[in-house]
Amino acid sequence: MEIKPLKMGGFYLPNNVLMAPLAGYTCYPFRLLCQEMGAGVSFTEMVSANGLKYKDKATKRLLLTTKDEKIKAVQLLGGNPSVMERAACSEELSGFDIIDINMGCPVPNIFKSGEGSALLMDLKRASKIIRQCKRSGKPVSVKCRIGVGEKHHIAAEFAKMCEDSGADMISIHGRTRNMMYDGAPVYEQIAEAKAVVQIPVIANGGIFSVADADKMMQETGADGVMIGRYGLEHPYIFAELTGKVVTKGKGQILKEQSKLAFAYYDEVYAIDYIRKLAAYFMKKQPGMKGYKQKMYQCGTWEELSELFAQAFS
Ligand SMILES: Cc1cc2nc3c(=O)[nH]c(=O)nc-3n(C[C@H](O)[C@H](O)[C@H](O)COP(=O)(O)O)c2cc1C
Repeated sequence: MEIKPLKMGGFYLPNNVLMAPLAGYTCYPFRLLCQEMGAGVSFTEMVSANGLKYKDKATKRLLLTTKDEKIKAVQLLGGNPSVMERAACSEELSGFDIIDINMGCPVPNIFKSGEGSALLMDLKRASKIIRQCKRSGKPVSVKCRIGVGEKHHIAAEFAKMCEDSGADMISIHGRTRNMMYDGAPVYEQIAEAKAVVQIPVIANGGIFSVADADKMMQETGADGVMIGRYGLEHPYIFAELTGKVVTKGKGQILKEQSKLAFAYYDEVYAIDYIRKLAAYFMKKQPGMKGYKQKMYQCGTWEELSELFAQAFS
């Protein structure tokens, strides 16, 4: 695929290979890893706009960033335009450069409460949310799906609404809400959306190799790609696509990720994160099943570290 910078309103992303927001994974250490691997930007996990007011430990953890993260992009989840505006303009988000709005989350309780992918059925409210978030003065992007179900494919109409409401970029997960995370992305839907807007359109869903990224770009004509689960499994994909040279192995990456996680989070969270990331690193790798099982019996970093030294030697 052609690598090029992306203009989002008045803001530039260095390239068009983006790491998707992934709840439970795209914490600060992981986003730094994606940056190092060459990703154009990496988004925080979704942060509930409603939850911001509680200023609790979990929300603070989601919003953690430092000056080492060159481009800071936060994803907000919410269905109430005023609450979303308050969150977008809040002190808590003042350090972020970009605000992304979640209009794709398929989880039943989120859908039922009118947030995430439920906004695909309420374009008026979705538009209000974008307009009001734009009052933050920051570039605003939208992450959505192509529709709710098989008979509800609305990517082009939705993309146009986003652009008309002031969105600076749109990332489209080429599956419907009902498809959840399985099945082939519907390329034509992303292509149709791309054809009707001027703002950058980023294509997401089912990219598990360089060839998949090339195919996604070819089939959709999108301006860039967003990679989700494969970014966890194989963060080198960002280097492979952007031409960055990275020589460190997965063992070394886990060591560095642990160091960051232990520096910024409590031990329980840090160990849980490292185990989850290592489980992704072990995915589809021959001979890893035994290590994966043993990993869940390790209770300390020392034990994990020993196991990783064997598994990733
Ligand atoms: C564990 C997990 C957590 C996710 N969390 C979020 C999230 O917080 N916000 C969001 O917009 N999408 C979220 N997604 C969706 C991904 O960003 C992405 O759109 C989806 O996984 C499709 O891309 P992929 O096929 O490359 O994984 C999540 C997906 C997974 C598997």
